[in-house]
Amino acid sequence: PPGTALGEDGELVIGGCAVTDLAARFGTPALVVDEAALRSRARCYADGLAARWANSRVAFASKAFPCTAVYRLLAEEGLSIDVAGGGELTLALAGGVDPASLVVHGNAKTEDELRMAVEAGAGLIVIDNFDDIDRLERLVTDEQPVLVRVTPGIRPDTHAAVSTGQEGSKFGLTLPQARAAIARLRASSRLRLDGVHVHIGSQILDTEPFARAVEAVAGLGTFAVYDLGGGLGTRYTYEDRPPTIGEYVDTLVAAAHRTLPADAQLIIEPGRSMVAQAGVTLYRVVTVKRGKPTFVAVDGGMGDNLEVALYGQRFEATVATRVGGGEPYHLVGRHCESGDVLSAGVPLRDPRPGDLIAVPVTGAYCFSLSNNYNGALRPPVVFCRDGEARAVVRRETYGDLQRRDRP
Ligand code: LLP
Repeated sequence: PPGTALGEDGELVIGGCAVTDLAARFGTPALVVDEAALRSRARCYADGLAARWANSRVAFASKAFPCTAVYRLLAEEGLSIDVAGGGELTLALAGGVDPASLVVHGNAKTEDELRMAVEAGAGLIVIDNFDDIDRLERLVTDEQPVLVRVTPGIRPDTHAAVSTGQEGSKFGLTLPQARAAIARLRASSRLRLDGVHVHIGSQILDTEPFARAVEAVAGLGTFAVYDLGGGLGTRYTYEDRPPTIGEYVDTLVAAAHRTLPADAQLIIEPGRSMVAQAGVTLYRVVTVKRGKPTFVAVDGGMGDNLEVALYGQRFEATVATRVGGGEPYHLVGRHCESGDVLSAGVPLRDPRPGDLIAVPVTGAYCFSLSNNYNGALRPPVVFCRDGEARAVVRRETYGDLQRRDRP
């Protein structure tokens, strides 16, 4: 399946580590990350954009995988980081991210969060509403570079819950509102307007809406910085055919050449397409219930992967020690919901209780949307490199569930 390799004995290997060894050492479910795959996506993005538009940077949209080790690794690769709010900001700083490289987002940034960002020395704060301007005017003593987030009225072909650029979106400012904000910021002594930002949605599988978004922000005027957001879709199933990173960057840069000043800085904010393929979740089969359909139920599910329940996302899966297809099974989780499905009708080779199941392409948004429904414990994150594995986030304990309880 996408994002994995096969050992000589038919067993899945991730970052040089055999999955049976990983499961024995870290337990299941576990989110396993191939460090080399993560680095290679980061380089593909950074080198790909720099080759086409020299004055540019790639800011990882860290909501896709906000843990200290991921921040550290991507900062080591020279990436800037997009954070949404104080939590991601704190994690990014803990991961050693240079504050000057931070792009701070959020449609409801509180006064405290804005203060944290200003005091940390965040490189760019993205204005999403007029209250952001009022608050920053009060908080900033020296000078703070900002961008204005624009909602261009573009509705890409993706799930409604992850579409953000359409009319009526809660994010950003409409074009007339953005013009008013720009005028106000140009007159501000403490807020330095560096440019504009646009992000139209996520898991977008064609390039055309991205070009239209560039054209929409170009109409707002001449700026030093154009942040074009994220949104490139990733390949979850064999049928998915998302544009490559190269095709996506080509589209943006071609539109930028047509419409933006040649000396402007371009920023892009990929999240999903940066990290999704580097993650594989390992589960243990608890029971196989024969019938119509036959269910294979594992020890995790919608607590560690909400993509199916929330967005109808489809995943491939395999028995990790007998990779390959067979009869179709309903791969389901352990939670008390019929919607707790990992993959409906997925071909598996003779699955039995105790088998390991691998669900690939779980590096994006699975960790960040994981939850404790039914008192399930959130899995560890295991980084694998050259045959060495280490937990960069430990598994939760039953004690963690009560950590904030007061009898
Ligand atoms: N920039 C901004 C301002 C964003 O809001 C987002 C994602 C990104 C960049 C990165 O977009 P990406 O390259 O990952 O498509 N919870 C959903 C995804 C929501 C995405 C929200 N914003 C999911 O699990 O599918």
